[in-house]
Amino acid sequence: MSHDLLKGKKGIIFGALDSSSIAWKVAEKAHQEGAQFTLSNAPIALRMGEIDKLAEQCGAEVIPADATSLEDLENLFTKSVDVLGGKVDFVLHSIGMSPNVRKGRAYNDLNYDWFLKSLDISALSFHKVMQTAEKLDAINDWGSVLGLSYIAAQRTFPDYSDMAQAKAVLESIARSYGYRYGRDKNIRVNTISQSPTMTRAGSGVPGFNAFLDYADKMSPLGNADAESCADYCVMMFSDYSRMVTMQNLMHDGGFSTSGITDAIVDVLDKK
Ligand SMILES: NC(=O)c1ccc[n+]([C@@H]2O[C@H](COP(=O)([O-])OP(=O)(O)OC[C@H]3O[C@@H](n4cnc5c(N)ncnc54)[C@H](O)[C@@H]3O)[C@@H](O)[C@H]2O)c1
Repeated sequence: MSHDLLKGKKGIIFGALDSSSIAWKVAEKAHQEGAQFTLSNAPIALRMGEIDKLAEQCGAEVIPADATSLEDLENLFTKSVDVLGGKVDFVLHSIGMSPNVRKGRAYNDLNYDWFLKSLDISALSFHKVMQTAEKLDAINDWGSVLGLSYIAAQRTFPDYSDMAQAKAVLESIARSYGYRYGRDKNIRVNTISQSPTMTRAGSGVPGFNAFLDYADKMSPLGNADAESCADYCVMMFSDYSRMVTMQNLMHDGGFSTSGITDAIVDVLDKK
């Protein structure tokens, strides 16, 4: 059911790879709610994924961009403003990748070139997106920029490895850029800290099923799925959230403020 929450709004959505991607669901919902947007992903991901299907479904143009490349980002913002017929109102950064996690490196045996890659792809790219947009004056006043984070930024989850540092940087960038963009353009910048979710990036983390099950049992509402995350993103792009900025917003079914739950006690009692 549509509420036309994003009617007349234009945006850029990064990170839809396949139908399990959080960004994929956000694109579907944003389309339902009346938004017009371009879709972007790294050139290599575009070859592997199914983004063209989504583009057709949403009437969106796909513009490739490696989010670590300033040149690609400049091209993306310039073309998006052109294709959409004006500046954008929202940007979703739904990007994450750690070569160390992907290649199963232990935390005491990290490859530091890869560590820098994790930081560049998963965190600095958020800054690059905003700096490029600001230089091109590509986001309308009262726009909304969102990144997706995970609670490993605040608490240790051993297998999350260097992605924990990347998420801490991502959230910090949201505060620092949010200050600047808020002061100068009334543009808000936030991160949503999402429950573990079964996607391509999620399932790359070792022991992910146990992770998912544990978080589900530790959350009174259960894990938030990709659909509900998409609902939250749409709300954050809508005018209903225009005074929310520089926040890391927990979207986790209550996980982050639960000490222990009956479901966990039940499991431990059976031992
Ligand atoms: N799945 C989870 O459990 C979970 C939980 C909390 C937060 N998140 C975050 O949500 C976001 C989306 O992840 P997802 O779970 O939907 O997985 P996903 O694998 O579907 O999305 C990750 C995306 O990042 C893109 N990407 C990687 N390198 C890139 C680059 N250099 N330039 C541009 N794009 C690049 C990938 O192509 C992919 O589309 C990520 O930031 C992730 O860390 C995921």
